[in-house]
Amino acid sequence: MDASETDKGPYPYYMLKEIDEQPNVMRKLAALYTQESGKPNIDTGLINALNEADRIYIVGAGTSYHAGLVGKKMFEKLAHVPTEVHIASEFAYDDPLLSKKPFFIFLSQSGETADSREVLVNVNAHDYKSLTITNVENSTLFREATYTMLLHAGPEISVASTKAYTAQIAVEAILAKALGEAKEQTIAEDFDIRQQLGLVATGMQAIIDEKDMIEKLAKKYFVPAPRAFYIGRGIDQTVSLESALKLKEISYVQAEGFASGELKHGTIALIEEGTPVVGIITQEKTANLTRSNLQETMSRGASTFTIVRRSLALEDDTIIIPDVDEMITPLLSVVPAQLIAYFTSLNKGLDVDRPRNLAKSVTVE
Ligand code: M6R
Repeated sequence: MDASETDKGPYPYYMLKEIDEQPNVMRKLAALYTQESGKPNIDTGLINALNEADRIYIVGAGTSYHAGLVGKKMFEKLAHVPTEVHIASEFAYDDPLLSKKPFFIFLSQSGETADSREVLVNVNAHDYKSLTITNVENSTLFREATYTMLLHAGPEISVASTKAYTAQIAVEAILAKALGEAKEQTIAEDFDIRQQLGLVATGMQAIIDEKDMIEKLAKKYFVPAPRAFYIGRGIDQTVSLESALKLKEISYVQAEGFASGELKHGTIALIEEGTPVVGIITQEKTANLTRSNLQETMSRGASTFTIVRRSLALEDDTIIIPDVDEMITPLLSVVPAQLIAYFTSLNKGLDVDRPRNLAKSVTVE
């Protein structure tokens, strides 16, 4: 580890530094894992092994699990391979019914998460092939998997994972494209991931430049709130889970991420005057549905906000994120949520980087 990488520099907390580093991580991954032609630059042995699989099983915990949920959408869309995502601590003891030729992908920033390792030990005992995508070279999950890919995000020190989540999604996108190309899927061949990651990097910077506005919003609405909700559909729902986790773990606001259509089946009962509800809207097909679910909470007194992709934006939207391919919008839509969590924690006077009861790597089951 390079000592300068672990220096906080002018930042009050590592989390803000790590959020700010995301555009560069995107550029780095594009440079390392794609060629100038846009073609993925990935170990052919890995792609061949993946290509033989009839089903992909993605395993992770916490934020890494959430990155896996995004990965599923990409593997299914670009490579047409059925993909399951599992919470490591559940999968290890679930006696899962596997397909004939499974391939396992382990997502772990630290590479040391005991819950994920327990699954990998079982996978190895059955001689199944696996890939670990991790930020830490020579970590346990790195050493024990058949194949490895590094996140190249630089050390992530804040307990709240930020740049590892976006790096995991970027690597999954490159891998899904490579697999899709191996399967001669036109959609994968047409998906220019190198160019998209360039757009993402610029887009992330534009959002990060809106910090002051996001801090005002966090201070006014999230700091005083006992609870808050993020809602969305499809890929936006997966980002709502990650957004809620970020908020709850460092600001202690009880937060839930929700499939927006499910709210009215129970959870809407929790909405009170001033409860913050954030709608994540990046998918054309479901944009209006999430907007109307948001409206339902507003008419019960919620303070509502939106994180919206530019081409779907309306006049009163709160945070507009630049346009990128619908499949990789989580790389941008999560950034305002990371900043909301950061500024809520900061303005509550909490220790942003070291929230109570949590450790950076969880090495017990
Ligand atoms: O190191 P890992 O990615 O395996 O860690 C998994 C989780 O413990 C981790 O993502 C955790 O949820 C984060 N602190 C959330 O910000």
